[in-house]
Amino acid sequence: MELTSQQINQIRESVDIVDIIGSYLPLVAKGTNFFGVCPFHDDHSPSMSVSRQKQIYRCFSCGAGGNVFSFVMGYENMNFLDAVKFLADKAGIPIQIDSKPLKQKKTSPYYEIYDLALKFYRNNINTAVGKDAKTYLDKRQIGPEIIKEFEIGLSLKNTEMLTKLLLKKNYEPNILKKSGLVNENEKGMHDSYYNRIMFPLWDLEGNVVGFSGRIYQGEDTAKYINTKETEIFKKGELLYNYHRAKREARKTGTVVVMEGFMDVIRAYTIGISNVIATMGTAVTKQQALCIKRMAKEIILCFDGDEAGAKATMACSNELLQMGIVPKIVRLEENLDPDEYILKYGKEQFERKLENPISIMDFKLNYLKQKKDFTNNNDVADYVKLVLKELEKTNDVVLKELTIHKLSEETHLDEAFLKEQLHEQTPKEVVQVVSKPVAKKTKYDVAEKYLIYYMLESPEVIQLYQNHNTYLPTKLYRELAIEIVQYYKSNHSIHVADFMTSIQDKPNMLTLLNEILAIERDDNYTVDEIMDYINVLHEYGVKFQLKHLNELIQMEINPIKKAEIAQKIVEIRKAEMTR
Ligand code: CTP
Ligand code: MN
Repeated sequence: MELTSQQINQIRESVDIVDIIGSYLPLVAKGTNFFGVCPFHDDHSPSMSVSRQKQIYRCFSCGAGGNVFSFVMGYENMNFLDAVKFLADKAGIPIQIDSKPLKQKKTSPYYEIYDLALKFYRNNINTAVGKDAKTYLDKRQIGPEIIKEFEIGLSLKNTEMLTKLLLKKNYEPNILKKSGLVNENEKGMHDSYYNRIMFPLWDLEGNVVGFSGRIYQGEDTAKYINTKETEIFKKGELLYNYHRAKREARKTGTVVVMEGFMDVIRAYTIGISNVIATMGTAVTKQQALCIKRMAKEIILCFDGDEAGAKATMACSNELLQMGIVPKIVRLEENLDPDEYILKYGKEQFERKLENPISIMDFKLNYLKQKKDFTNNNDVADYVKLVLKELEKTNDVVLKELTIHKLSEETHLDEAFLKEQLHEQTPKEVVQVVSKPVAKKTKYDVAEKYLIYYMLESPEVIQLYQNHNTYLPTKLYRELAIEIVQYYKSNHSIHVADFMTSIQDKPNMLTLLNEILAIERDDNYTVDEIMDYINVLHEYGVKFQLKHLNELIQMEINPIKKAEIAQKIVEIRKAEMTR
């Protein structure tokens, strides 16, 4: 059964957001709203407000916001449908939902192509030609069960088998080439991968969207070759093993992040399954967001070498930007987790994970490397670097502890260090808690307030429509159109339900949350609304005239020039009589 939006709205209405959030954290009533400590960032004073009337929440510090579904999704690390089901259970509403009814249809041909390739590669490794590959894996202590679990396969020395198989299925040659599995040269089309152990790469939902092939005989070429990026495979968007680790991470409240997928596979062999890999590239914002959603405690366990330390630094900073403070495990002797586990065994590795160091201790150690403490220039450098790092956190306790440590290390006075800290421009701290300040023109204000009131009352939606209002900013415009469409098909609008309808449009949701944060008086006058509409109209006319004037300058054909001039006159006239 598929849930209708009416049913989903009914579930939302049958719970009170104040009760639900109040069951997780203490809320205090203040005026018409409730306030609590925000669970989505490292909050120390109540920054989250919850509105009973609107059934929404918002954190003024980290910008998190939404309806009761988004709160449960964030707090419980659930996907949307699980959150709906969870709340339906609470409300005693019996529902039956399929595993993924709202999932988009997989329209891209690449999914099928990779599935076929996966079967082909997996089959190869189990035949006679796979003997050497099996021996290689066996030497690395990757047994048949792990090969099966991670769907590891083998590409062949005969370089046309997969290509022929795919061509027989009538895929367009062009698509096959773009898939990265097939190449073309003078002799025709052939398989791209030649004799490599093939590791499938999954997207966040567990669909195979590409491969990484490892050499296992000779060491002449690149160690790993990944398939090219396609519309369904963006390396910066996926995390290796995310779809499987998700559940275990939720259960344990911890996720371990590694660099290589071999490290993840090794961790599985000793029963650690709340683990994912970044696959050797710098962590993107999108990946950081995924990691953040997985669990409360995040442990970075990168390679023990210098490159691993650097990557740890970069990844922690990305996470800190999102208000998350990761914990760090560093491995000795430059070992990566795979090598460490093989050398020291399960228990010792588990001990490492149980005793991570704090991000500040890691940073202090990292910045201290190669510094000579008998040299005052080095010490001064070190102090400056640490203070710069300290600005990136807004955890006051951590700041205090670090200053104390720094003072002990350098024999500089604590008060002096604090003073230095305050003197550094607090730019980066601001970045952590708020988005860039938008330029506030009167048009911006008009767009914002108009949308705010469209969500308050259908009357405003009518005014917006009757006057053919055009919002200058693309995202605002799209949001307004979305609101009108929602109203057209539902004949009423409640902001919390509207949020549900755009829950898969994160940019729009963020904008909506920002708009709701303006907390205006909910009563408006029609005159006020007309002011906004007129301001926006004025902008539209100005914009149109500017455009036409540019055209006229460039036009050399006198007839066309006259036509444009005519248009300009008409617009001016219409404005006079408006
Ligand atoms: N990587 C890659 N291309 C390379 C090298 C590495 O895409 N030429 C990516 C792979 O996704 C790999 C990750 O970076 O999982 C980490 O690289 P590395 O530490 O070099 O690999 P290991 O995990 O140590 O792999 P192995 O033990 O098989 O050498
Ligand atoms: Mn390795």
